[in-house]
Amino acid sequence: MNRKILLALLAFIICLTGCSRSPASKAGAGARWVIGMSQCNLGEPWRVQMNADVAAAAARHPEIKVIYKDAQNDTLRQRAHIEEFVSAGVNLLIVSPKEAQPLTEPVARAYRAGIPVIVLDRALVGEEYTTFIGADNRRIGRAAGEWIRKVTGGKGKLVELKGLMTSTPGQDRHSGFREAIQGSGLEVIFEADMKWLEPESRKEMESALARFAKIDVVYAHNDPGAHGAYLAAQASGRHKGTLFVGIDALPQEGQAYVRQGMLSATFLYPTGGAEAIDTALKILQGQPAPKKITLGSRLFTPENIDKGGEALQ
Ligand code: FRU
Repeated sequence: MNRKILLALLAFIICLTGCSRSPASKAGAGARWVIGMSQCNLGEPWRVQMNADVAAAAARHPEIKVIYKDAQNDTLRQRAHIEEFVSAGVNLLIVSPKEAQPLTEPVARAYRAGIPVIVLDRALVGEEYTTFIGADNRRIGRAAGEWIRKVTGGKGKLVELKGLMTSTPGQDRHSGFREAIQGSGLEVIFEADMKWLEPESRKEMESALARFAKIDVVYAHNDPGAHGAYLAAQASGRHKGTLFVGIDALPQEGQAYVRQGMLSATFLYPTGGAEAIDTALKILQGQPAPKKITLGSRLFTPENIDKGGEALQ
């Protein structure tokens, strides 16, 4: 074969591989598949951890590249991010949506356009996505209620600081909890939507403290919320004698608060980042993936924290 033919053949092969690439796989720089990760917010440590878990799992697979977008707690921005990923032609989407209702349609459109979608942690309405991965929030809420009921003997004045009630974890952590305390002597004297945010929670707790002379228990839907409430109580010298209970149990956050004596209990809410990458690979390789993957939880208290907490039954 002479030089000219060889060069022509080489150019042809380069064009075959290069020209057949989708715009997304060009962005992937050598990766076979590009995954778009739409994160609703990176303002809370738990979501930073979720992205880190995704990145750590993805780093073990050179055939995938993950592109991240942070909606900064803005639903409209998250809608736009999902649309941008679709027009870039990503091979798969991972979405951790801020709110259920308004993000259902953009995800459904991506799914209908043939892009597999993994919905992570907060759920959507309906079933127009490939796989949902998350813990059972109703069960965690119920476990929190049962634990509080047991520790207080089923009596006391309670404050519930709720997560964003347009998101499914907020709704489920509330309903599960109320189911568990129903019929007990635990009385909810104050409840507010702190939207998952520590400063909001602190503000709401200040109102609760101003209105009620006695608060026995604070149940917050996440650890930033429980911590904000604790700081509000501490600032007015009323933190002693109150139980503060949260959810998330990150080692550097909720678990640390339990060790420091600020929280009486926290329940693990796994990020699902590693599971999302495992499932993404299955889908991309054409293997079947389950519609729903439910992750487990654990209870951490000062008594069991050195043993790694205990699994919810
Ligand atoms: C972070 C967070 C977590 C919570 C989860 C619920 O944004 O508020 O603290 O467990 O989202 O989706």
